[in-house]
Amino acid sequence: MARLMTLDIDIRPIAPDEAPAIAALAGVVWLDAYSGILSRAQIDYMLARRYDHARLRAECGDPAKWLRQAFAGDFRAGFAACEICGGAFKLDKLYVHPAMQRRGVGAALVAHAAALARGAGYSAMILAVNKNNAQALRAYAKYGFRVREAAVTDIGGGFEMDDYIMEKTLDP
Ligand SMILES: CC(C)(COP(=O)(O)OP(=O)(O)OC[C@H]1O[C@@H](n2cnc3c(N)ncnc32)[C@H](O)[C@@H]1OP(=O)(O)O)[C@@H](O)C(=O)NCCC(=O)NCCS
Repeated sequence: MARLMTLDIDIRPIAPDEAPAIAALAGVVWLDAYSGILSRAQIDYMLARRYDHARLRAECGDPAKWLRQAFAGDFRAGFAACEICGGAFKLDKLYVHPAMQRRGVGAALVAHAAALARGAGYSAMILAVNKNNAQALRAYAKYGFRVREAAVTDIGGGFEMDDYIMEKTLDP
């Protein structure tokens, strides 16, 4: 599919009472993106843990989690979350609605996350991405991330994540 017209994107913090809308958006993106990569059981397991409304609501109110959403007009087009993990600034979530993908929403959220990282005093940003997520790997390469290492992580429930850890050096 060719690149579509780039959108005007407005990036805002996510308020705790918006947690259910973000969880619903995550459900749409995950089923679309991961059905060919993860089993349905693993998708359901991970969604239930990561997007539990009470947990997400608490994260939205936590200034050290940096949850942000991207709107295209009135449409909630995507969201991102960052956190400090093992002393590194980590882009922990990056999800764009399937109907809004490849229109610059992910790029805008990553640029925003990079500015947050710089503002917090970090000179690099890391992330974990499934080794078989070809679309995201292409996007991250385009955003300037490079593979640093491979990582297999036991996430409980009999499931594991088979990821690359990627890193992007941030401009001063
Ligand atoms: C990966 C993702 C966040 C990228 O955001 P996006 O807004 O779609 O991407 P952008 O418009 O910023 O485009 C960046 C690049 O990504 C790649 N890309 C994005 N969508 C693509 C698609 N459908 N087909 C091929 N390449 C695609 C392209 O290389 C694109 O650059 P180009 O159009 O100049 O070639 C988004 O596609 C997404 O949410 N995917 C599903 C969920 C996911 O995998 N998230 C990452 C979890 S680690």
